[in-house]
Amino acid sequence: MESLRAAACEVLGTADARAKTALSRRHAAAWAELREAGAAPPLGRATPPEFPARPDSPKLLDPRDVPRRRPGTLAGRIAILHAIAHIELNAVDLHWDMVARFPDVPVPPGFADDWVKAADEESKHFNLLADRLEALGSHYGALPAHAGMWRAAADTADDIEGRLAVVPMVLEARGLDVTPGMIDLFAKAGDTETVAALEIIYAEEVAHVAYGSKWFHFLCGRHDHDPKDRFHELVRRYFHGALKPPFNVEKRAEAGMPPDFYWPLAAEK
Ligand SMILES: [Fe+2]
Ligand SMILES: [Fe+2]
Repeated sequence: MESLRAAACEVLGTADARAKTALSRRHAAAWAELREAGAAPPLGRATPPEFPARPDSPKLLDPRDVPRRRPGTLAGRIAILHAIAHIELNAVDLHWDMVARFPDVPVPPGFADDWVKAADEESKHFNLLADRLEALGSHYGALPAHAGMWRAAADTADDIEGRLAVVPMVLEARGLDVTPGMIDLFAKAGDTETVAALEIIYAEEVAHVAYGSKWFHFLCGRHDHDPKDRFHELVRRYFHGALKPPFNVEKRAEAGMPPDFYWPLAAEK
């Protein structure tokens, strides 16, 4: 591996979804091997693209124009899987972008370890869901997808604390809130293989939120900022949606997100 940031940019520059996740997993394995051998290779410097490369399909639509389907039907469940697969692919790029984007902020090697591991897991999640879509007679790219996914990254391209607040601590924490309901929906439909895939995703996503909270607190500590106040300030500045209850208070707490971080933001929207 030439440098980790160059590897990150290579993933970001790969358009085909399966090729992106395969390369992501290869780079993550190479990094883990170096680190296990006791090496702390320099992260290097490389310029991530403004927008990551993506396949020609799915077509990206404004969320209002993405057709809704009834969740009680097979078509509805395929649409849900497609939407989650799209989120996972976006998450692969988000985590590699986290590795590449902020070379002037000094961080310990564990910062890269965490985001490389998260990127590897998102790649696995995408593959699991793409496999399920194919088993159900569809595929990733068969339906239109949400166009606004990179906005959180673009808005926080110059602010690592803002990025940590919005991506893992708001968006990925939201995943913890909604995944149990999705697991129930596929369980009711008797789709045990999709349930198994979603259970893996649910278990691993807790750590991604925890990485966010850990490094957010680390950077707040460096600047002597109160983490809770700083989180509220940055979410108000960069996040344009609403923080919607019900919250998964237990998993959020496990991930280092106590209620006083998110309740005040939910109440004001
Ligand atoms: Fe994921
Ligand atoms: Fe994640």
